Amino acid sequence: MSLSLPTVELSKVNHSMSLDVSSFPPAPRPLYTDVVAGFNQTPRTIPCKYLYDDRGSQLFNEICDLDEYYPTRTELHLTRKYLEQIAAHIGTGARLVELGAGSGLKTRVLLGELIDPHSYLPVDISPMELRRCSDRLRKDFPDLPIIPVCVDYTADWQLPTSSVGGRTVFYYPGSTIGNFYPRQACSFLKNLSHLADPDGGLLVGVDLHKDTALLEAAYNDRQGVTAEFNRNLLRRINRECGADFDLDRFEHLAVYDEEHRRIEMRLISTCRQTVNFANDRFSFEEGEYILTEVSYKYAIEDFANLAEEAYWRTRAFWTDRDQLFSLWYLERESVH
Ligand code: TRP
Repeated sequence: MSLSLPTVELSKVNHSMSLDVSSFPPAPRPLYTDVVAGFNQTPRTIPCKYLYDDRGSQLFNEICDLDEYYPTRTELHLTRKYLEQIAAHIGTGARLVELGAGSGLKTRVLLGELIDPHSYLPVDISPMELRRCSDRLRKDFPDLPIIPVCVDYTADWQLPTSSVGGRTVFYYPGSTIGNFYPRQACSFLKNLSHLADPDGGLLVGVDLHKDTALLEAAYNDRQGVTAEFNRNLLRRINRECGADFDLDRFEHLAVYDEEHRRIEMRLISTCRQTVNFANDRFSFEEGEYILTEVSYKYAIEDFANLAEEAYWRTRAFWTDRDQLFSLWYLERESVH
């Protein structure tokens, strides 16, 4: 898919000015096309990036604060505990490129420790989320050049030429890498390795394989925030594709597939029904589900192998006592 605007537009920006995301309205996304294509597969699938519209991004921030959702606090704990080591690996004068702007707490901790950072570039598909995150960080780091980039980083994209200088270090927290199928994760990491300079780095958070009950609890919270987040996708499709999903007729369920080591986020049709789109209609059997997201859980060794295959060398990794989560510092391999 193509989201063409930021690369071209951004290259015109003088690096001394700070970028206002409102000047970069998002290009129309082929949501309709992607949904129809996904609905012709078995099971029906919707690309998970569409979960993150404005409301979706806000709900996701709420998920991160839930008791059951251990990844955010465990990663934050690791970041704080090993902060000095992490900052030493990142080194001086880094241009930190965060993929997925997030709520900024881990980022703030990290930026506070970096030695003389060159700039910070949050990259996010949601313009509102990007603006919120950039505005907040500008208050805390008034001297740091902050350059928001509104782009779908899973598509072909480039770093803005306006921010050259500084070693590129990607920051990819939240185990978002787990939301790719392993083969896609590998090509995604390869792509990052091409985008990074020869001496570039990658700080990445990776959730670990563990007990099914603990995992399923994290994605089926008691308050129903995750369910609301998942169903919000149908609300978005209604709005943007002229569809007529009845949200009360789809139930959220997250299931851990132990064999493939992945959480599957599902929306289950509670009855036999037909959903109309502007130009298409789809029938659902009772119990039939739409797969809205996968979240792979890795063993340490498996992730190390994946990284290596994608031209990243492991310099260090950190994990908590209970081995819930892991944080990695990788360096680009010099020849590839
Ligand atoms: N990267 C997060 C994860 O895999 C995304 C996530 C957390 C998520 N909870 C979710 C995605 C619920 C969809 C629904 O853990």
